[in-house]
Amino acid sequence: MIVYCDSLLGITADHLRGGFYAGWPNPPTPETHLKVLHGSSHVVLARDGETGPVVGYITAISDGVLAAYIPHLEVLPAYRGQGIGSALVKHLLDQLRHLYMIDLICDPDVQPFYERLGLRPYSGMIYRNYDRQSGEV
Ligand SMILES: CC(C)(COP(=O)(O)OP(=O)(O)OC[C@H]1O[C@@H](n2cnc3c(N)ncnc32)[C@H](O)[C@@H]1OP(=O)(O)O)[C@@H](O)C(=O)NCCC(=O)NCCS
Repeated sequence: MIVYCDSLLGITADHLRGGFYAGWPNPPTPETHLKVLHGSSHVVLARDGETGPVVGYITAISDGVLAAYIPHLEVLPAYRGQGIGSALVKHLLDQLRHLYMIDLICDPDVQPFYERLGLRPYSGMIYRNYDRQSGEV
């Protein structure tokens, strides 16, 4: 059974070893992934069972007044197509419902997924330091 939670209590890097950041040439380690979760203002995790591994997660960073940005959403490949990604987005949007702006960047092929959840396409700009992709100090 998939369990959703917004607390990092008891979560260790060992819960994050399922293969997140799939396709990233220089992915963060599970230890760095845990730092990302702790550094986020909002987190929702999907776990396989109450104490099981994390199989999906979404984060937001917010000013707490008007705006939030959603940098990460990922569901492990073996768990996709079961509604977990949609549930993570819905849980997070519920946490952020008091804000005016909730933004994210995504590839065009994922836009229909987000549109079904109430988001709409817009244009954006990005800047990347690719040598910082792993997040290692
Ligand atoms: C996007 C993602 C989180 C969806 O998770 P999920 O648990 O499979 O989502 P759901 O089961 O709720 O919904 C799946 C639906 O979204 C569609 N979808 C998801 N990713 C898609 C993609 N890259 N291209 C096209 N359709 C996609 C699926 O086709 C499916 O549609 P269906 O219900 O009509 O079959 C997951 O595919 C993932 O982790 N992808 C890699 C990371 C990523 O792209 N994250 C988004 C960054 S902005």
